[in-house]
Amino acid sequence: PKFPWRGLLLDCCRHFFDKEKVKQYIDLLAYYKMNTLHWHLTEDHGWRIAIDQYPKLTTIGAWRKGEDGQPYGGFYTKADIRALVAYAAERHINIVPEIELPGHSQAAIAAYPHLSCTGEAVEVGTEWGVFKDVYCAGNERTFQFLEAVLLEVMALFPSPYIHIGGDECPKYRWEHCSKCQRRIDDEGLQDAHELQRYFIRRINAFLQKHHRRLIGWDEILEGGLTDSSVVVQSWRGMDGALQAAHQGQCAIASPTSHAYFDYQLDAIDLEKVYQFSPIPVGYSGDLKYILGGECNMWTERVPTDSVLDQRVFPRLLAMSEVLWTAPVVRDYPQFNNLYKNQTPTLAAKKNEK
Ligand code: ACM
Ligand code: ZN
Repeated sequence: PKFPWRGLLLDCCRHFFDKEKVKQYIDLLAYYKMNTLHWHLTEDHGWRIAIDQYPKLTTIGAWRKGEDGQPYGGFYTKADIRALVAYAAERHINIVPEIELPGHSQAAIAAYPHLSCTGEAVEVGTEWGVFKDVYCAGNERTFQFLEAVLLEVMALFPSPYIHIGGDECPKYRWEHCSKCQRRIDDEGLQDAHELQRYFIRRINAFLQKHHRRLIGWDEILEGGLTDSSVVVQSWRGMDGALQAAHQGQCAIASPTSHAYFDYQLDAIDLEKVYQFSPIPVGYSGDLKYILGGECNMWTERVPTDSVLDQRVFPRLLAMSEVLWTAPVVRDYPQFNNLYKNQTPTLAAKKNEK
């Protein structure tokens, strides 16, 4: 393959997909020669991974009020996760867990309100969007919590990389929180934006101590995080990948323009994915910094297994082709014929779960 990182992000938080579905996707990824399952496990809308030290993450944080008023959700036990990690490894798929911080954390805060700036009770998120309640950056208990969670996560996942999110963290609570303001003063920071840098750096130091590399969404660049072990996942276009590679950091490309498989086919069709290149336009540096790409399968509007299948396939085949062959002159009609030959295979696999 041209690129060593060929991934699918599967958001199991906005909607929950059971372990059999995840296993089927591991099979499909392997079949189409992808090698990374980026498993989005924590969100405002649900916490999906059992953590022994914090049981309310799954007794409370895994369940939200569903559209019919009944609890909606689910989670993976440690036994489920160990089995899936082993199953994936046998198929040469690395599972990268994503534990979102400091934003996208409302489900954890619903379970443990002391983790937020206000300490007030909140519900696991039910509306789609970005939420203002985030982990308090001024409270040491936040870091105790996150380190304990990450230790349990690292014990389950041998992945050299741990994804910590880092995207879309509103600063409103931090600007109005005395603990966060004290942290800003104590650390000599300018404002709440620099507090995010402090937060990510601290988590990075913890992961490094445990010999893991941090991956974050491109927002992590805003604080000037230039550590060469950090990997940047570019989603707001390709600028994050370009900046990271220029400063000697590895990048994974999954821009909204080509790699957001939650978008409908009329926005990103098969040909558009096929035309993608994970190499940013204008980049002439060492290609070793461009690890590859991912298809990002967010699931706000993907309530069922069959909608998931419709969104991922056949576009995943185009991404696989891109990551095996780019950059080359592309022949879409030829690819289209190749993929049509796969239709019976895909139809058969659909029922294998
Ligand atoms: C993202 O889509 N917020 C990474
Ligand atoms: Zn705070």
